[in-house]
Amino acid sequence: MKKVLVSLLLTLGITGLAQAAGDAAAGQGKVAMCGACHGADGNSMAPTFPKLAGQGERYLLKQLNDIKSGARAVVPMTGMLTGMSDQDLQDIAAYFASQNMSVGAADPALVARGEALFRGGKLDQGMPACTGCHSPTGSGNDAAGFPQLGGQHGDYVALQLTNFREGVRTNDGDTKIMRAIAEKLSNKDIAALSSYIQGLH
Ligand code: HEC
Ligand code: HEC
Repeated sequence: MKKVLVSLLLTLGITGLAQAAGDAAAGQGKVAMCGACHGADGNSMAPTFPKLAGQGERYLLKQLNDIKSGARAVVPMTGMLTGMSDQDLQDIAAYFASQNMSVGAADPALVARGEALFRGGKLDQGMPACTGCHSPTGSGNDAAGFPQLGGQHGDYVALQLTNFREGVRTNDGDTKIMRAIAEKLSNKDIAALSSYIQGLH
């Protein structure tokens, strides 16, 4: 079941995502207003503003399109992408993808639980390990649209997992892949996973 789902997603990911053909150098000139929240190079300081540096280009482009269209609601960014062309969004995705994501630290008290969930899932409940899609190092699989997680702010990760679980974030496709996974996570699971992920590299 898990294998079928993953290969289905891989197929959907490769054929379903917009072709990324961005120019990173041009993108650098288009991100001035993003830096206040996300950091000039995409390594944000505030823990609820996601790091964009080193994130996969296809994943970034999908999120930018989803935020622009409203498929993913990001209130602080309201209107910011409205005037941007497809080429602008491609260039911006290429620019942030070409940077390097900084790594944070995990809370040692949460590592064992976080690691067990990240690497083992909850097989008795049909929840696959995160490694299957996001890779053992947390670097993701951009060709398939699976984002990098390793090094991302724990507070942001926890918020996304909660938003998937509560159905607040719904742009994970018709297969509801992340909503189905997050449904199986308690608040304590989310706290442990997000701390572990913040220190993962
Ligand atoms: C006022 C603050 C603010 C500004 C300015 C801002 N953003 Fe964001 N952005 C956010 C927040 C907050 C989120 C996460 C929202 C959530 O929790 O889902 C976000 C999410 C994103 C994401 C999704 C990241 C992921 O890992 O899924 C992308 C991509 C993004 N922003 C790009 C941009 C770009 C490009 C600009 C400039 C054109 C920009 N943002 C300007 C606050 C901001
Ligand atoms: C079968 C593949 C798959 C598995 C397994 C999986 N994910 Fe995901 N995950 C995805 C996809 C696809 C997305 C991107 C959805 C989108 O396009 O918005 C995603 C997005 C996320 C995001 C949002 C990232 C961001 O920058 O906003 C987080 C956090 C996340 N996953 C955490 C996890 C955790 C923790 C686990 C294990 C408990 C896990 N995922 C297991 C496929 C998977």
